[in-house]
Amino acid sequence: MEQVVSAEEVRGALARPRMEGRTIGFVPTMGALHEGHLSLVRASLAQADVTVVSVFVNPTQFGPGEDFAAYPRDIEADAALLAAEGVDVLFVPTVPGMYPPDASTTVDPGSIGTVWCGAARPGHFTGVATVVVKLLGIVGPDLAFFGEKDYQQLKVVQHVVRDLDIGTRVVGCPIVRDRDGLALSSRNRYLTSDERGHGTVLHRALSALVESVRAGNADAPMLERDMARMIESEEGVTLEYASVVDSDNLERVTTIDRPARAIVAARVGSTRLIDNVQVPASGACDNG
Ligand code: PAJ
Repeated sequence: MEQVVSAEEVRGALARPRMEGRTIGFVPTMGALHEGHLSLVRASLAQADVTVVSVFVNPTQFGPGEDFAAYPRDIEADAALLAAEGVDVLFVPTVPGMYPPDASTTVDPGSIGTVWCGAARPGHFTGVATVVVKLLGIVGPDLAFFGEKDYQQLKVVQHVVRDLDIGTRVVGCPIVRDRDGLALSSRNRYLTSDERGHGTVLHRALSALVESVRAGNADAPMLERDMARMIESEEGVTLEYASVVDSDNLERVTTIDRPARAIVAARVGSTRLIDNVQVPASGACDNG
């Protein structure tokens, strides 16, 4: 595995495979890698000829008072994991390398970036969209892999890539969970063991919604109320939102009559957790 720091080095490392017509897969990350990240890496290794992974804790997507300084960093462990998987190129840019003092351009994804997590974290998705567009510009991948764990981020990236005519295919990959149902996240290491137990309520509430829809309930506001009640009754958990939304534009739906996603965010102690699930086609509709 070749580990590089600058955009020029990335382009240099990819010049030959590109000339030979080999496809390039790309997995952007902020490091502190776990099995969720590695599932994206394995998807890229399976679907592309050459796999590039970036590790960059992007300061512009963290708000004031968020955990940028404290965000877990362990590049040696990350590099060892990626080398063992068979990754070709590891790109670890520096903050001044990505954001020289005279850089002034940002990418604003519009209203899809200001709802849900974007409402709680103003500017977050502009930071994400800007760094992702920069990384795609540097790597120039055929395929880029993003987790459904950060469902709104996946949709923001898909919209930006479409709107700006970027020639990369964005591939969404399923959420990887622990045995207790908690979606893997670099931030789970902030949780105490009690908090971890309480944090599984997000997955429990989403699973209950899936069961309820399968049993014929297509009333989205009622499903939202049931999720909210379950999450709010869990000790130490503060609900931020629990919503049923259109799978593509993330607007709330009132009845399950189109592809929909249930999305939740809550604070467990001081740690913010998010989770989501695809809503099955309504049992009521199936029964005609
Ligand atoms: P990070 O949180 O490190 O996540 C990198 C990628 O891993 C994202 O696409 C995320 O959705 C995916 N991922 C994380 N946990 C997952 C899980 N349990 N199952 C499946 N996929 C999972 O997301 C970011 O970094 C940044 O915002 C980034 C896109 C790199 C831009 O800075």
